[in-house]
Amino acid sequence: MNDITSPVAIRPEATADYGPVRKLNKKAFKGNSESKLVDALREADDFIPALSLVAEKDGVVVGHILFSPVKIKDQAGETPALALAPMAVLPEFQGQGIGAALVKRGLAEAGRAGHKIVVVVGHPEYYPRFGFVKAGEKGLKLPFEAQDEVFMALELVPGALAGVHGEVVYPRAFHEVT
Ligand SMILES: CC(C)(COP(=O)(O)OP(=O)(O)OC[C@H]1O[C@@H](n2cnc3c(N)ncnc32)[C@H](O)[C@@H]1OP(=O)(O)O)[C@@H](O)C(=O)NCCC(=O)NCCS
Repeated sequence: MNDITSPVAIRPEATADYGPVRKLNKKAFKGNSESKLVDALREADDFIPALSLVAEKDGVVVGHILFSPVKIKDQAGETPALALAPMAVLPEFQGQGIGAALVKRGLAEAGRAGHKIVVVVGHPEYYPRFGFVKAGEKGLKLPFEAQDEVFMALELVPGALAGVHGEVVYPRAFHEVT
């Protein structure tokens, strides 16, 4: 069922959602890497269940977003941040604002929990609408090769990136799975 008028609920993922989330990531990304990444990130000691959100419509899990703790590290020290990854909406439900609802709710929850910085590697046409800017221009670096425009950062607290430079240190799962 895909009634665009029926409401979408955004809520924290429950264990019963793990299967549907696995399936939707496989469908949206047309492969297994992201579903394996989500499974691996859930096993991490610093996994934040409140920042693994699902979108539910007519009782079906149609979207998912995950934010995981990372560090921005240079010789001077390290700054905590969150990485938005991955996010997915079932293909037949895309383009209805469900992705936007997941991002907005996720950013709001992250801000409420006291997080200050979010980074993402993703579509450069999509994330700027939520306030993400090019992370390279803020002095941030990735530990892997990527085009400049796909690496973006957002300040949840104005000025949070001031004086913060260095490389993003991702959880081990990002290197092992993707
Ligand atoms: C990206 C994704 C999560 C967006 O979810 P959604 O519910 O369709 O998003 P919304 O309805 O809020 O927004 C739709 C917008 O996303 C844009 N978008 C979707 N896929 C995109 C892509 N591959 N590249 C660029 N923009 C994309 C659409 O063009 C549309 O833009 P518009 O509003 O200017 O027309 C969804 O398309 C998806 O699951 N894609 C496959 C997995 C993926 O790429 N995940 C993101 C990794 S960074």
